[in-house]
Amino acid sequence: MKIFIKTYGCQMNERDSEAAAAMFSARGHEVVDHESLADVLIFNTCSVRDQAERKAVGKIGFMKKLKKERPDLIIGVMGCMAQNRGEELFKELPHLDFVLGTGQLHKLADIVDSIHDDRRAQVALLEPGDEVLTGLGAHYNNSIFASIAITRGCNRYCSYCIVPYVRGREISRSIADIVDEARELVADGTREIMLLGQNVAAFGLGGNINPPPPDHSPFADLLNELCAIEGLKRIRFTSPYPSYFNDKLIDAIAAQPKICRSIHLPLQSGSDRVLKAMNRHYTASQYLEIVDKLRSKMPDVAFSTDIIVGFPGETEEDFNATREMMNRVGYDMAYIFKYSPRQGTVAAKLEDDIPQEVKEERNQVLLSDLEKRTAETNRKLLGSTQEILVEGVSKRNAERWSGKTSTAKTVIFTPGPETTVGELATVRINRVTAVSLFGELQPTPLRGN
Ligand code: 5AD
Ligand code: SF4
Repeated sequence: MKIFIKTYGCQMNERDSEAAAAMFSARGHEVVDHESLADVLIFNTCSVRDQAERKAVGKIGFMKKLKKERPDLIIGVMGCMAQNRGEELFKELPHLDFVLGTGQLHKLADIVDSIHDDRRAQVALLEPGDEVLTGLGAHYNNSIFASIAITRGCNRYCSYCIVPYVRGREISRSIADIVDEARELVADGTREIMLLGQNVAAFGLGGNINPPPPDHSPFADLLNELCAIEGLKRIRFTSPYPSYFNDKLIDAIAAQPKICRSIHLPLQSGSDRVLKAMNRHYTASQYLEIVDKLRSKMPDVAFSTDIIVGFPGETEEDFNATREMMNRVGYDMAYIFKYSPRQGTVAAKLEDDIPQEVKEERNQVLLSDLEKRTAETNRKLLGSTQEILVEGVSKRNAERWSGKTSTAKTVIFTPGPETTVGELATVRINRVTAVSLFGELQPTPLRGN
């Protein structure tokens, strides 16, 4: 059969879709990149904001016409919205053939095959306590980049967030399993790995939400083992909850040049009052302590973050605290979200009292601060020497190539005879714009392996 998979939402969904593609391909099915070519349409969905759900429902609804023309077509929904809405989705979208909840990836190919043989609608949902780690490791895209899911689920219950309800209890894979997966990827040409989890820094803590003592961090142990893999050039990870950045983890990151100097540290709000209402277990000053520690050990580190504006009760003063925190930390990048109440979460019981226009305005203020800051950061890089991982021909100009710095900035440069995709190269930044960096290739690499 020909399978088309459309992915919404986060990098974890991208990873699950890739694993699904690998499983189908291993069974002899073909994965196609357009819905009109497919016998099976799978929508891997997101529930984190209402808009994400509406987008997927709209798209799947639109497929009804196609199904009328081709009744043999198999249409299924997987991921967070599938888990969130379950069987009820068949009422809204009667042309659906299956609903596959989170953590059920290992059942996907069997379900599709069985519908093909005997057209009966199917449902498989994650039941509390049934969390498994099966089906996480298959890879399909052969590229210098790969991602590895190291944990599943989340135990933090931030009051606005639906993830713990739809992705289940947090469980971690074993270090040995992850290292094996990484080794295989590197043998196949992967040079940079992104480690994924809802709260990666809680890796290996057995679901305990209390951050460990300063000298204990299984996540640091994992990073150290991965750094020892020869041929692997870079490691990134997302997302870590701030409170787990203890001394051991900070020291491990600082000691390993393979770990990228760009850290995503979700802040959510700069107001202690709002952080408390969000059930985020840190204060703005505790967050800053972590930022300062990381910076003192790695002066070149870049930070990115997630922010929610318009959380119930967010006053102008709360919002200004967020704005000030953002300026104080000086993020290279921030994902700013307008609060969206999610049914079943603790915050959904509070009145969503910040008008849409105010949420929009606060969003714009932060975006414009961020834009100014990015332009300034780029300007400061002018004249500096940077190590980049070569990615290949630039999208805009075939004579130029592009690569990324450890801080995740794209640099455009003219390749030399020895420039190779997936290798590290050294460039001197000789021109910058508000959004791009241009560099000149330098002869000696900063670091080998
Ligand atoms: N409304 C708006 N943003 C949300 N996020 C999570 N839940 C919500 C919600 N209900 C944001 C958080 C999180 C990111 C992935 O999505 O900032 O870090
Ligand atoms: Fe959601 Fe908080 Fe878990 Fe992140 S840490 S997935 S925001 S509950």
